[in-house]
Amino acid sequence: MKEKITKLTAECKAEINAASTENELYSVKVKYLGKSGLISDLMKGMRDLSPEERPFVGKIVNEARGKLEELFSARGAALHEAELEAKLAAEKIDITINKNTTVGKLHPLNAVRKRLVDFFVSMGFDVMDGPEVETDYYNFEALNVPKDHPARDMQDTFFINDGILLRSQTSASQIRYMEKVKPPLKMISPGRVFRNDDDATHSPVFHQLEGLVVDKGITMCDLKGILDLFAKHFFGEDTKVRFRPSYFPFTEPSVEVDVSCSICHGAGCKICKGTGWIEILGAGIVNRKVLRGCGIDPDEYTGFAFGFGIDRIANIIHSIPHIKLLYENDVRFLKQF
Ligand code: DAH
Repeated sequence: MKEKITKLTAECKAEINAASTENELYSVKVKYLGKSGLISDLMKGMRDLSPEERPFVGKIVNEARGKLEELFSARGAALHEAELEAKLAAEKIDITINKNTTVGKLHPLNAVRKRLVDFFVSMGFDVMDGPEVETDYYNFEALNVPKDHPARDMQDTFFINDGILLRSQTSASQIRYMEKVKPPLKMISPGRVFRNDDDATHSPVFHQLEGLVVDKGITMCDLKGILDLFAKHFFGEDTKVRFRPSYFPFTEPSVEVDVSCSICHGAGCKICKGTGWIEILGAGIVNRKVLRGCGIDPDEYTGFAFGFGIDRIANIIHSIPHIKLLYENDVRFLKQF
């Protein structure tokens, strides 16, 4: 019996050492130490022994079993470690492999647009997206620009047919928004607009950002306050804002807004054409007719609106002299930002 145990133990040891995976090792364990394994079979054979022999042999079998258990767990740990290491080595990703590839980034126009949107969102403005193919009603009529109104000439519009056009201003979103949301409301609407204009400072496609605030007791002071913060944030802390009287059909009164030139600080330079001021946007108090047309009582609520060219803001921030540079996508130009 004792010889049998010694032989079995030696065979088991050899198989433990020969197992090259955790799975193989498990099979060996089942073969020897399992419920109907070879060691258990030996135990069953104890029945045939004399009562005096039994405790002696039982002790040897138990010792052998304990030894084998230890060997199994030691070999198991080693195999586990080795398998893990092999797996890690096989799955290793060489992150240095693309180190010479150029990393892309946002187009300067999109980067500025994102900053503008973030700025207004941080003050609680809602962001609205309007359609680029728009109806005459939203682009003009609801903004108090009826057919044959001379103000239509301010924006040379691409018409698709009589009632459909490519929107010439994001102001159209004001109306769509006020039809859905009732005051108090604060929204901006950035997006593409289209005009039949093409020179150094104009492109037939450009980007505007419209802003609208409607609540009880809104005045020109609120408009000035927001635009002051806006100008300081984007053009520098010492930037001043100036309102000049102007005309837009959808605001009354209307203003043209200038900021002090951040290049020459008011002394006069090429960028500000020697005036010390740069025109950046149009704004005003929302015309009563516009509010009424959207079902908002102008005796109860007032509002301000403003609209500016995102391209123009990007050009001022980066001192870009020609609007077309933003659209040609020449990599040598884009790389500078
Ligand atoms: N939509 C005008 C334009 O494209 C800009 C503008 C002026 C928007 C005054 C406004 C505003 O909301 O109140 O020239």
